[in-house]
Amino acid sequence: MVSPFASPRALFHYTYRMTRILITGASGLLGINLAQEIMPVHEVIGVDRGKLINAPFKVVKADLSDPRHLDSILDSERPAWLINCAALADLEACEKDPDTARRLNIDLPAQLAKSCKAREIRFVHISTDAVFDGEKFGAYSEDDAPNPLGAYAQTKLNGELSALSENPRAIVARVNFYGWSLNGRRSLAEFFVGSLENKKNVSGFTDVMFCPMLVNDTARTLIKMLEKNLAGLYHLVGAEAMSKYQFGVEIARKFQFDENLIAPKSVRASNLTARRSPNLWLSTHKLSTALGESLPTFSTGLNEFYTQRQSGYPQKIRSYQQG
Ligand SMILES: NC(=O)c1ccc[n+]([C@@H]2O[C@H](COP(=O)([O-])OP(=O)(O)OC[C@H]3O[C@@H](n4cnc5c(N)ncnc54)[C@H](OP(=O)(O)O)[C@@H]3O)[C@@H](O)[C@H]2O)c1
Repeated sequence: MVSPFASPRALFHYTYRMTRILITGASGLLGINLAQEIMPVHEVIGVDRGKLINAPFKVVKADLSDPRHLDSILDSERPAWLINCAALADLEACEKDPDTARRLNIDLPAQLAKSCKAREIRFVHISTDAVFDGEKFGAYSEDDAPNPLGAYAQTKLNGELSALSENPRAIVARVNFYGWSLNGRRSLAEFFVGSLENKKNVSGFTDVMFCPMLVNDTARTLIKMLEKNLAGLYHLVGAEAMSKYQFGVEIARKFQFDENLIAPKSVRASNLTARRSPNLWLSTHKLSTALGESLPTFSTGLNEFYTQRQSGYPQKIRSYQQG
């Protein structure tokens, strides 16, 4: 019986059945913020290779490039939902090490999809906006044919296809997000904030369009998708498209940094090895229709990103990896 003096939070947990959610890649940019968003309402179990030694949720240590670990984790932890945020998400690393890219971006989601289906665990796999070649004028829908340009995009596309063929009830979400990460260097937004704050000159691509979403908005939307029992392929990105240069300028203005420190640059003038799509503009019409609501706007996300910094959120996240 619940005490009449129980806190509102305790009463909430008494009346609301918590769901146990397993997050792979819990130390990553999405994983750690997803855990943060889920913790107040559901039970989180993170899977991590050893970085998270001070996290406020249960962490299981495992190297997921070895699929033998997977089934025993699922059998001992018995989650109701699994959200796969583990990946080799560095484009240059995927070009250099295609074997690891294949194991993490294709074999892992295929195995997880299969194992989750066998155990009736709802499965979400995270994919990327980079599966398209960027030749289209305008936004890509889920019906447009992908044409990956490099090893990262190709392995992510194959991972989507394997996950959905193993488990047609899975959710596959193509994302793009920014936010505060464990090492403070994972997202483009952190790069702009860190550089501009120190008055460093940087450049921003004027010819790469994308739809950035605050990672906390991505996390909250993923939970809504699970709660709505969605299945299949969805685009889960910010509602507005902009160039990477413009994104930097928006951050500079919000944080009151000098936007003139950002030089406009063409991606063609960079010496990056991995080919990149110049147009990562995805339509979110299918998802907003399925959810029955609009996705969060860019300005609300940017406001929250700014407020998070004022309230010490980046330090809180980083403290999870300290002793
Ligand atoms: N960032 C974006 O805007 C963006 C855009 C499009 C798509 N995505 C997709 O979103 C998902 C999450 O991306 P992210 O930005 O959060 O990536 P991230 O920060 O690089 O995180 C990747 C996670 O995978 C884990 N991992 C890598 N190899 C592992 C292994 N062998 N065993 C266990 N865990 C392993 C990493 O653990 P360690 O910390 O130990 O390395 C880390 O927790 C990925 O599927 C990515 O393709 C991201």
